[in-house]
Amino acid sequence: MPEVFLNPNFSPRPWGAPALARRGLLLAGSGLVLAGGRRAQAQDQRLPEAMRAMTGLGEVARARGISFGAAMLTQLLQRDPAYEAAFATEAAVIVPEWEGKFAALQPEEGRFDTAPLDAQLHWAQQRGRTLRGHALIWHESLPGWAERALAEGRDRALGVMAAHFDRVLNHARGQIRDWDVVNEPIATAGDRLRDTPWLRALGPDYIDIALRMARERDPTLRLVLNEYGFEEEVPEALLKRQQLLALLRGLLERKVPLDALGIQGHLHLSRPFNAASFAGFLAEVRALGLQVLVTELDIRETWDAPQEIAARDALVAERTYAFVSTALEGGARTVLSWGLSDRNSWLASTPAVAMGQGRVHRGLPLDDHGQRKPMWQALARAFRGGS
Ligand code: XIL
Repeated sequence: MPEVFLNPNFSPRPWGAPALARRGLLLAGSGLVLAGGRRAQAQDQRLPEAMRAMTGLGEVARARGISFGAAMLTQLLQRDPAYEAAFATEAAVIVPEWEGKFAALQPEEGRFDTAPLDAQLHWAQQRGRTLRGHALIWHESLPGWAERALAEGRDRALGVMAAHFDRVLNHARGQIRDWDVVNEPIATAGDRLRDTPWLRALGPDYIDIALRMARERDPTLRLVLNEYGFEEEVPEALLKRQQLLALLRGLLERKVPLDALGIQGHLHLSRPFNAASFAGFLAEVRALGLQVLVTELDIRETWDAPQEIAARDALVAERTYAFVSTALEGGARTVLSWGLSDRNSWLASTPAVAMGQGRVHRGLPLDDHGQRKPMWQALARAFRGGS
């Protein structure tokens, strides 16, 4: 497969290299095998074959009627055999980490680039995996041209939305059955709708409009509203739950088509998680007739967490089990993590969420070398229904 696209927000990190060193190493050369030592490299090269023979999380979950998957980047799929092998082993579902976003699909007005998404669709189809769509309407990953167009007024904004939906939903018709139609509509503080170019152009109705447009274009799609920052027991999260419930109730009262709430699950060890409280929220969402799914699980550490790897991994695993088992008990039948290995996580590559100073979050099921961590076991345990 030719390499077709580079996510401007993502740079692959060399094996085992701390996030801080990444930029320099990348500029220096191939961007892949520059650090980490010979032993790690040899191990990494053997990994793909060994991995394919293993029972992965996808299979463990499927035995219980649960779909497990992870976010994938085409640029890594195409050039890193260990990355591909990890997905082949572990993921029954994939979600494009970048390739389904507005700027990836329509970088210039009227010029659609579906090749990076198609590469994932092709990979999934060949292996009997499913791909869920992410994300049609979001305040991020919006190209400059679209932001300017949305500022030109309501009709122009409606035209931009319709043209994008027409092309994208038609292109993926029958292949993508499930889309995050609106991503992150509530403000970070949890107290109101997020101020976005879409909201400024169309008013709060932009959510109704997007969901209706998606349903009109493909009545068979599962339509998902995806959100973060309401999973844990902190004041802004509790506020966000209330906003979210009010938003969902309003949509359903207005007969706006919506099938599910996507729970991103970007968790923070620094915040308490209260299973009973979260279960109560999930029950309220389900009582509205909506499905729930976990769409982007990963776990951020804090500087006051222990330094020792085993202790850090144990905390991440414990939180994973508590959260995922609560979500499953609350009715979630799909769980996706935002990537599979710490090596390729946005938690390392995105300055706003990275730990920095040479320390890297260990928030995904596989470590820097693709080896399974206690978080992997915690997911398997949650899927098996153990304690
Ligand atoms: C992140 C990706 O992981 C990055 O590579 C990208 O540059 C920015 O977006 N919530 C979402 C995801 O819905 O789309 C975000 O993904 C992470 C937060």
